[in-house]
Amino acid sequence: MTTSSTSGRHRPARAASTTVPHTVRNAGRGDPAARGRLVDQLITDALRAGTAPAPDRARDGYVPTPEDLADELCDVPNTDLRFLPAGAVILEPSAGDGALVAAIRRANPAVRVVAVEPNPVRAAVCTADHQAADPAVQVHTSTFEQYAARATADGIMFDGVVMNPPFALPDDPHVWLDHVRMAWHLLRPGGWLVAVVPDSLSYRSGTQHADARAFIEHHGSHHRLPTGAFAASGSMSACRVVRLTKPLPGAAIGTEHLLSVPQHQPVRVAAPQLTGAAAVDLPVQVWFDGWSSGDRTVRYQGRCLLCRWLLWGRDDGDNDPRGVLGPFSAGLSLDPAEFGMAGPTVGLCPSCATNGTSYRTGYQQARQHWTTPHRSRPDR
Ligand SMILES: C[S@@+](CC[C@H](N)C(=O)[O-])C[C@H]1O[C@@H](n2cnc3c(N)ncnc32)[C@H](O)[C@@H]1O
Repeated sequence: MTTSSTSGRHRPARAASTTVPHTVRNAGRGDPAARGRLVDQLITDALRAGTAPAPDRARDGYVPTPEDLADELCDVPNTDLRFLPAGAVILEPSAGDGALVAAIRRANPAVRVVAVEPNPVRAAVCTADHQAADPAVQVHTSTFEQYAARATADGIMFDGVVMNPPFALPDDPHVWLDHVRMAWHLLRPGGWLVAVVPDSLSYRSGTQHADARAFIEHHGSHHRLPTGAFAASGSMSACRVVRLTKPLPGAAIGTEHLLSVPQHQPVRVAAPQLTGAAAVDLPVQVWFDGWSSGDRTVRYQGRCLLCRWLLWGRDDGDNDPRGVLGPFSAGLSLDPAEFGMAGPTVGLCPSCATNGTSYRTGYQQARQHWTTPHRSRPDR
């Protein structure tokens, strides 16, 4: 009997099981013929092996993301997916039967999706449910390791990654660490990665976990999911969500939260584009605003100190997050002048600025960049 992890998520593998795999329970929604083929294949495999299939969770870390959580992962503040332009390419590197692929397509039907899944039955379900319906979805029946090696050799990069990787495999108890690292290397500058990971990220003291924690806290943030977030998939393990953004080329490492206003020539656009790709290619944009019958300009200014969200500001100073800048507004950033101090404005996104705890944390950290202005003594 093998035990791949002590967490409840990856229980000891049983020699034989009468459990109906989740894949089959959900297979071929809307395609009875595909469902029939999958069931036939499972029965054939079981007869050949002389046992019923081992539980998917123990064998290959299969714990599908429930629909509500999948939609949450694909939305602000976890990712900028819904703002990406048509044709942007999103990677799902361990797609299972496609719960996250479906959520990516709901969040932004205009993006392309590359889904990778080594389990042939799950990959077939994902293909039948998504690739067959939408040629913008491409399913690769492969391990992520094999796919990543090919993509790297071919120079393929992604505008975003949404992933819930296997946490542990029988021969690799921390496989998720490698999967997050490989996905990071396939992300374009300015691109966004969101991943479900084990809660152990936050407390394990071994080098692997400590290094990953430091890297993640440098390039983004992580937060705990509510207990029972995966209860619908039969797991009560504690999980976290990691959000990472790839630095822009030329950005001074670790200082992108000290806001600056680029002075490039504005490029005319039909409507403001506030994504990572735009921060690289179009850091200053001007567009015609029909409401005010005039031109408006936005500039990429930097990132949120706490969660690394991209921040943009308008030249006319109207940075109300309820307006065109939305969650990307730099308007709630920490301005030292408001506290009687001097120094750079420190980026804070609307989401972190309107949460009392994060605001206080942000303020304490921002003060380290500020000085108290020297006041000359009054003449007697
Ligand atoms: C936790 S499940 C998540 C499935 C899907 N991402 C979701 O959120 O519903 C992890 C998936 O990773 C797959 N997997 C296992 N080893 C893998 C590998 N080496 N490369 C890519 N995927 C793998 C499993 O077959 C399983 O479908």
